[in-house]
Amino acid sequence: MRRGPFVIAFLPALAACGDPVSPPSPLEEKARAYIREMKAMDLEYERLHDDLAAKKPPEDAKRRLATILAGAERASRLSPRASEAENRDLAFEFGKFLDAARKLEAATWSGDEGVRAWRRLGTACAPCHELYRKDPDR
Ligand code: HEC
Repeated sequence: MRRGPFVIAFLPALAACGDPVSPPSPLEEKARAYIREMKAMDLEYERLHDDLAAKKPPEDAKRRLATILAGAERASRLSPRASEAENRDLAFEFGKFLDAARKLEAATWSGDEGVRAWRRLGTACAPCHELYRKDPDR
């Protein structure tokens, strides 16, 4: 049994492969939560457009806008970056987005006006992405 010691030495390494990966750090958790909020906002944003195209009542659009606002408020309270200066800048940009989005609560959410309001909402998403997102496409 000349191979014995080798096999025994190899076993712990195999067992280590089955170990769960180390849990995410608090910063990773926040970065993930941030992306989750972004994805949820994006989905509502697309659905809002679908609702307008399907000529749904303005209340539906306003509900989606409220969902986007709530998500943006949650995201604005996360500090997803390691750099405090970057987190401050992100929070500042979020302030501007929230102001613009709250103004749109009073917009007409139907017909061409509704589509224009939807575009203004998307325009309000963009500046922060240009500054802080690696793949800014909106
Ligand atoms: C104050 C800044 C800010 C605002 C406002 C903002 N975003 Fe983002 N968004 C980011 C950052 C930063 C990322 C990149 C996150 C990362 O990858 O670390 C991002 C990423 C995303 C992503 C990509 C998520 C993924 O799958 O990786 C989507 C989609 C997105 N945002 C949608 C939106 C929409 C829609 C709005 C407006 C309703 C919006 N964002 C407003 C900062 C912002």
